[in-house]
Amino acid sequence: MVAGLLAQPAAPGRSPLVAPAPARGAALSVRDVHHAFALRKTPLPVLDGVSFDVEPGAFVALLGPSGCGKSTLLRLVAGLDPPNEGRISVDGAPLRGPHPSRGLVFQDPTLYPWRSVLGNVATGPEARGRARAERGRIDEALALVGLSGFADAFPHQLSGGMAQRVALARALVNAPPLLLLDEPLGKLDSLTRLAMQAELVRLWQDKGFTALLVTHDVEEALMLAQRILVFSDRPARIRADISCDRPYPRHREDPGVVADRRAILDLLGTV
Ligand SMILES: Nc1ncnc2c1ncn2[C@@H]1O[C@H](COP(=O)(O)OP(=O)(O)O)[C@@H](O)[C@H]1O
Ligand SMILES: [Mg+2]
Repeated sequence: MVAGLLAQPAAPGRSPLVAPAPARGAALSVRDVHHAFALRKTPLPVLDGVSFDVEPGAFVALLGPSGCGKSTLLRLVAGLDPPNEGRISVDGAPLRGPHPSRGLVFQDPTLYPWRSVLGNVATGPEARGRARAERGRIDEALALVGLSGFADAFPHQLSGGMAQRVALARALVNAPPLLLLDEPLGKLDSLTRLAMQAELVRLWQDKGFTALLVTHDVEEALMLAQRILVFSDRPARIRADISCDRPYPRHREDPGVVADRRAILDLLGTV
């Protein structure tokens, strides 16, 4: 489990700025959530009775076919939209809209092009009127994603992977107990993607937040998550709740990973 992993050394060449924080992730409860969109007046059912609980500090992947409703579910958990039916609560409290304690990272980094890397990461503290007071936290967030040397760079000067690291830092600066990741590595080239998968695990181990990762990539779910919820085609229902508690770093060729991958692909009807 997580506790044993906190002792792992930091990535080479990067000294830990702060001692690993004790796990302080949020508990999430999703209860019998139904959701539909009105499409030319006909309802388009997207979520069909989704229920699950996530323990504080867990890393859970939401895996399912494209278009099944994963992003919709994540938006509901973020508090961006209320569910048509059902209840979502974090640490026992029902959601009342979006909040920086639930960090969000999407497939596109959506940075302000006219602001520096530092300026982009500072948006949360600025909104709270605390950019100056929290300068240390902003620097720490940049260091966590390996971008200390790029504070003054602008988005157009960054690679795709670096821009996505800025988006991560922008979420992490708010020390979110719950980090919501919607295919955050989906547009990166395969080598950058592998490197950033390892970085996500390291960040999660360091910070102890609860992570909810939406992905349609079975291998990514198996490399990162302690638990994988497999969704059906739209309207999404949970088809399987798979525990994967093998230690990190994980290896694609590990026979257990290979077997799980095959079983999940089978379940998804793709082999
Ligand atoms: N705001 C919206 N209005 C109407 N339909 C939507 C809206 N958002 C998503 N959908 C539809 O809901 C379904 C699920 O979308 P989404 O949650 O984005 O799927 P996924 O993230 O699993 O690929 C899709 O058919 C999509 O077209
Ligand atoms: Mg999506």
